[in-house]
Amino acid sequence: MRITRLRLYNFRNIGELDISLGPGATLFWGKNGQGKTNILEAIYFLAYGRSFRTATPRDCVRHGGTECRIEGVVQRGALERTLGVTIRGGEKTLSLHGKSASLEEFVGNLHLLAFTHAHLDIVRGGPAARRAFLDRAMVPLYPGHVRLLAHYSRALKQRNRVLATIAAASGPADARLLESWDDALIGAGARILSNRLNYVARMKSRLPEGLFGMETLRMHYLSTIGAENPDRAVLEGEFREGLERARARDLKTGTTSVGPHRDELKLYVNGKGLGAFGSAGQQRSGLLALYFSQMEIHAEAHGFYPIFLVDDAEAELDRERLRTFLGYLSERTQSVLTSVRAFRVPSGRFDPVHFVVENGRVRTPGDETCSPTPATTM
Ligand SMILES: Nc1ncnc2c1ncn2[C@@H]1O[C@H](COP(=O)(O)OP(=O)(O)OP(=O)(O)O)[C@@H](O)[C@H]1O
Ligand SMILES: [Mg+2]
Repeated sequence: MRITRLRLYNFRNIGELDISLGPGATLFWGKNGQGKTNILEAIYFLAYGRSFRTATPRDCVRHGGTECRIEGVVQRGALERTLGVTIRGGEKTLSLHGKSASLEEFVGNLHLLAFTHAHLDIVRGGPAARRAFLDRAMVPLYPGHVRLLAHYSRALKQRNRVLATIAAASGPADARLLESWDDALIGAGARILSNRLNYVARMKSRLPEGLFGMETLRMHYLSTIGAENPDRAVLEGEFREGLERARARDLKTGTTSVGPHRDELKLYVNGKGLGAFGSAGQQRSGLLALYFSQMEIHAEAHGFYPIFLVDDAEAELDRERLRTFLGYLSERTQSVLTSVRAFRVPSGRFDPVHFVVENGRVRTPGDETCSPTPATTM
């Protein structure tokens, strides 16, 4: 799978852009604040129908403009698809081959993983970021997962409401009502847990061993009910027991203290917590290793690798790590990277096509005439 062409109109600080992207690596480099991340954001939009930076589509429309457009051509084998996004009056419209498409129809046409500053939260932030990372990665493999999460979250909200009422002694303690929400919670929760335990086991077995020198990355799904076995019937029993054990406490605090919404994905580098003890470069490499194991799982399931976007590709990595990481990518998939300066990796397999980004315009290095860059054949 690859994206062959990207066209932008009034997207963030980019007035107009029309470029072809080669099958290997493409590097957009330039000074701070020029529009490099904006380009990645636009490509990401084509994959997920939303931004990784804002939940407000209007933010993406160039200041002073009334609408913005993103268009991309995606190739998978002999199949070619044109994906489009238009944002006008704060409303976002998605399209496939020029015809308006629902989010369901749109998402899934461009398989892509992105590594940006915001994604570092997965290792540096709290457990919620890691749970979300897991759930997001699992969606293509466990089709019912999104629905399960929605059911679970609804049941949790209702159960917490009942608990809070009891805790505040502002309503009659209705044990039967609580039990009915327990059942709903256990039904969806055991399935979520089963999916997560299976997926984490898969990820573990595909973590690239020794990718970054002698460092070893380990991961462990730490369940609040002590679950280890992904068998659903076992999980249902364990979840019920967990809720019963926690009941007195939950009734006091008015909230549900056990279940997949409180679980944690533990990450360790050389036996120590990655978030608390890992260096900046180790955290970045650790997250890359997690992404690589996801790429392998994706390739096994789909027969091809997802495209990989990396913002500030060079940041925090020493030369050795950078070379390993870029070598890994260039052997497997198309990648689009950004950096504050041009870089080449000596004797590496990584040989990117360079573009310079300057004040929302894109040009090839050495080319004095600024963008829109004519579509380059590669
Ligand atoms: N809606 C918008 N209209 C016009 N300009 C915008 C809009 N949104 C953001 N910008 C501008 O885009 C620029 C930032 O672009 P971007 O984040 O892509 O920079 P960058 O090249 O990645 O920089 P850095 O190296 O610092 O990460 C800023 O100058 C910002 O003011
Ligand atoms: Mg940037």
